[in-house]
Amino acid sequence: MLPPGPTYPSLVTTWHWLQRPYEFLEECRSRYGDTFSLYFRGLPQLVMYSRPEDVKEIFADDGELLHAGEFNLSLRAFLGEHSVLMLDGAEHRRHRKLLLPPFHGERMQAYGQTMLDAADASIDRWPVLAPFALHARMQAITLQVILRTVFGVDGAARLERFDRVITELLDIAAWPPLLIPLMQRDLGRWSPWGRYVRKRRESDGMIYSEIRERRAGGSTRRTDVLSMLLDARDEHGQPMSDEELHDELVTLLVAGHETSATALAWTFRWLLEKPEIASRVRAELRAAEADGPLTAERIAKLDLLDAVAREALRLQPVVPLVGRILKRPARVGGYDLPAGVGVVCSIYLAQRRAEAYPDPNEFDPDRFLGKKLSPNEFFPFGGGLRRCIGMSFALYEMKMVLARVLQRTDLALAARRPVRVVRRSITMTPSEGLRVRLLERRPRARLVAAA
Ligand code: HEM
Repeated sequence: MLPPGPTYPSLVTTWHWLQRPYEFLEECRSRYGDTFSLYFRGLPQLVMYSRPEDVKEIFADDGELLHAGEFNLSLRAFLGEHSVLMLDGAEHRRHRKLLLPPFHGERMQAYGQTMLDAADASIDRWPVLAPFALHARMQAITLQVILRTVFGVDGAARLERFDRVITELLDIAAWPPLLIPLMQRDLGRWSPWGRYVRKRRESDGMIYSEIRERRAGGSTRRTDVLSMLLDARDEHGQPMSDEELHDELVTLLVAGHETSATALAWTFRWLLEKPEIASRVRAELRAAEADGPLTAERIAKLDLLDAVAREALRLQPVVPLVGRILKRPARVGGYDLPAGVGVVCSIYLAQRRAEAYPDPNEFDPDRFLGKKLSPNEFFPFGGGLRRCIGMSFALYEMKMVLARVLQRTDLALAARRPVRVVRRSITMTPSEGLRVRLLERRPRARLVAAA
């Protein structure tokens, strides 16, 4: 039997979910308990879990009973059929094995300086005193980072073209209704999907020619992810095809760019509302600098900075849930569910449980200092054999960008209204793009100024 849940029409549930996702989840939990059912128009019946013991049970699955690829189907038109996010079973294992090595924690040092440089270049261009949207600046930084470290694009002109075309493409794709298959119809060049399809052709052409050129040129001495993927071989000694490489590059771009930018924007929201914490991070940076040059590697090891990034991901998870499709009838979290149900872990609800997090709605990085939280209570990157491949990359990047912005700038919130959650495709972003004003910018050389 399914757990209880809202009984009003699925269109109403869908409206609540699209317009006020977090309030809606909280209302459901207080009305129906920790585990509840939801039905959205056009999707399978969902069962939402957030108790650590249930999350543990779901993440322990070996991929036979629960299929994440099937759950992610609405992304197929964006990512392609060869994307690791779309796959299940043996094909998923093969792709994941090929993709994991370039994202191994130790590899991050190779990307650290690029992350710092991208942040510096962006900060240099921020207007002084005039309000601007910080989220867009974070998007520009994380896109530069992906283009350089993952795609390995070099040369100013080529980088500029990739940057322009992909920014336009992702802006078109950010409109949430495009996730609904019914909306994915090309009704001419001015229709939303028509615009997407045409821009997509342009970006696909660029990505395929990058793959072909790089395959022809060989990848010796290059450290970018694409070079490593070109050299990677599966257990049968087979390389990835051009189509597979293309879909995985698009996946890494989509999964890694907007998510990281949004996580950074939310982190700044909390830091701007709690300047005493920003001051403590600046003091941590200054103290570290007194011990020698602040390299990417040393920044990555700063405890409070790390705790700030994690606490922001706890309080405002960029992706609110992760789901799997149940392949046969089974008991999950104490409920007997029929095949075809979507088994969902609510990252948002799990990470706001008072049992695990006293004062759960407070931004309090100290709760992460000197403590390792259970992966069933803290999972902004999902879990089990589907856990985010870019987790180390994203945390590393967040710390590099946070460090640079805190070292070099004094910002103030300039939001016209209280900051709300606004949906952009599958991510939850701050309203007005998080409007801020730059009060002071310090030059690159004189990095750590007064708190
Ligand atoms: C703050 C930034 C990020 C967040 C919050 C995030 C979150 C997530 C989540 C929730 C999942 C689904 C996991 C599951 O189903 O259990 C996921 C999967 C994935 N992420 Fe991330 N991610 C981030 C950054 C990145 C980056 C930087 C990359 C790579 C450049 C990346 C690549 C991927 C890939 C390839 C998958 C699919 C894994 C699979 O299906 O096996 N992500 N991510």
